[in-house]
Amino acid sequence: MNAVLERILTTRTVTDGSTVLPLSHPDFPNLPVHMDEREGRMLERVIAAVRPAVSLEIGFAYGVSTLFICGALAAACAVATHIVMDPHQSTQWRGIGLRNVREAGYAGMVRFYEEQSEFVLPRLLAEGIKVDFALIDGWHTFQLREDANLELCGGWPMLALKSAQPPQQRSQSC
Ligand SMILES: C[S@@+](CC[C@H](N)C(=O)[O-])C[C@H]1O[C@@H](n2cnc3c(N)ncnc32)[C@H](O)[C@@H]1O
Repeated sequence: MNAVLERILTTRTVTDGSTVLPLSHPDFPNLPVHMDEREGRMLERVIAAVRPAVSLEIGFAYGVSTLFICGALAAACAVATHIVMDPHQSTQWRGIGLRNVREAGYAGMVRFYEEQSEFVLPRLLAEGIKVDFALIDGWHTFQLREDANLELCGGWPMLALKSAQPPQQRSQSC
């Protein structure tokens, strides 16, 4: 496990460089704000099996799932691009996710959009970007629509975690 990720999970804190903050939502401390180690290990196993050249992630926050994914990508692929989007990175999350990615040494593989996924995804599809793996963990109210868009427009393989939908209605791959 990358040392930055290990430190975050062990101390259950993050920092913006001047202030140390708890690893929790700044406004709603009881809301899940990151994947736990069990979920992260599952991501690692999926990445190791799929070996994506291009992967995508919706919902970044403090970058915990991104650190799991990038660590697994680094272990699995010589060259990989991980596309990430979150409209609130520099505001609500104080740029800490990007800080963590830089500190962990993964900045070169991450392409970040500080925008809502519902606006970024159609552009990526129009650009013809092919994604081998996608993790959807954004604003779950819109997850169903995003799933539908992906299936209709792109046919991208994806993994939807912590979905607001009941499990039997989830689309886990396409
Ligand atoms: C549960 S957190 C993501 C946690 C992250 N995947 C992890 O495990 O470390 C959900 C994130 O979705 C982001 N978000 C909210 N609305 C979004 C949208 N329309 N598009 C993309 N991300 C969104 C929030 O800013 C928040 O950072």
